[in-house]
Amino acid sequence: MKNIVVLISGRGSNLRAIVQACADENWPARVAGVVADRSGAAGLAVAREHRIASAVVDLAAGVSRDAWCDELARVVDGFAPDWVVLAGFMRILSPSFVQHFEGRLINVHPSLLPAFPGLHTHRRAIEAGCTVAGATVHFVTEGLDAGPVIAQATVPVLPGDDAETLAARVLEREHVLLPQALAALVHGRLRLEGGRVVQVPRPV
Ligand code: GRF
Repeated sequence: MKNIVVLISGRGSNLRAIVQACADENWPARVAGVVADRSGAAGLAVAREHRIASAVVDLAAGVSRDAWCDELARVVDGFAPDWVVLAGFMRILSPSFVQHFEGRLINVHPSLLPAFPGLHTHRRAIEAGCTVAGATVHFVTEGLDAGPVIAQATVPVLPGDDAETLAARVLEREHVLLPQALAALVHGRLRLEGGRVVQVPRPV
């Protein structure tokens, strides 16, 4: 059984989608641990509900980001991860964290990257007059919301949309896209090689 560790900051609906996919689709992988950057992350309840071990690594005042990332890496490593998933994890990670988990660290972002990295993606997409929005799952590299794309899904931007209605439509797609992308990794169909996503040939 392979181990997935999920990092969250908020409500954890993508975490729930991953936990369900592991169970429903009989993956050779399970969520071995959930790590939040704050004890108030509502998604920790999802971990409790499914009896998944969890930990909180707070960025305490006075601690440098690098030191906090080192501690975070130590805690994540404690779950012996084969993959680490950033599912609504709202912190920027240090280069050494990213390098340490290179090739097994993925993120879901609520825009069609490389458009609208960072925050307020839905508002920015509406303001730009986009007629299409969506979500991206990608390998994490040192740039913010950069890194080779594993999968994307689109939704229409409808007349009258505001950031909230668009976010809800995108989130629904994230709940399908993220488990699908993770399934491709868990089943060994895709991997990161030389900075690109490559399909692993099936044995004949
Ligand atoms: C998702 O839209 C994710 O793409 C973004 O933050 C949101 C997290 O939602 N980074 P949840 O915590 O998984 O419900």
